[in-house]
Amino acid sequence: MAKIAILLGSVREGRQGIKAARFIKNKFEERKHEIFLADPLKYKLPLLEKKYAKYEEDKAPEAMKKLSKEFKEADGFIIVTAEYNHGPPAALKNMLDHFAQEYFFKPSAISSYTTGSFGGVRAAIQLRSILAELGMPTIPTMFPVPKIKEAFDEDGNPLDENYNRRIEKFVKEFEWYLEAFANQRKKGTPY
Ligand SMILES: Cc1cc2nc3c(=O)[nH]c(=O)nc-3n(C[C@H](O)[C@H](O)[C@H](O)COP(=O)(O)O)c2cc1C
Repeated sequence: MAKIAILLGSVREGRQGIKAARFIKNKFEERKHEIFLADPLKYKLPLLEKKYAKYEEDKAPEAMKKLSKEFKEADGFIIVTAEYNHGPPAALKNMLDHFAQEYFFKPSAISSYTTGSFGGVRAAIQLRSILAELGMPTIPTMFPVPKIKEAFDEDGNPLDENYNRRIEKFVKEFEWYLEAFANQRKKGTPY
């Protein structure tokens, strides 16, 4: 059992991304993992005026404290990203940038989606280098979802059965990396 934080990147009215996040959450919960959904609509963060680490003890906004605690406890991160003008959404980048040490020496995995046919892979590729810089390297397999409106219902149930099969490699690969990194962290980290 691992603790996994799912970071969702959209706060848009009528956002589709929550459906993909719920689908992925359900899949990992079925396998007995503990999931925290970092939803920027629920945990409203200011635009980055000051990183969490720069606040004096206990002075940070509650949402920031909560996210920092959950991220610190997580064994890994799944980033569910839309593609806005070929890049990741601002709400996602803003949430990511508020934190740093919380992510170090843990793996991450990317799921991207769009209403169109390309599944957000252009944003996903940009995210890969951002996540590496944040100290949470990504697993090789991505989980892109094109035409998201046809993929899942509001609760994250697949409208197309193929998604149950398509996500298997993503799940099992991420589990392998979660365990490998957790074992290595037990021996200590360089900083
Ligand atoms: C500001 C903005 C930029 C977008 N840019 C792209 C894009 O570059 N490529 C694409 O395939 N879809 C693009 N779209 C369409 C999105 O894939 C679609 O609106 C999707 O539902 C966005 O995710 P969300 O509903 O979770 O916010 C864009 C949408 C918005 C609002």
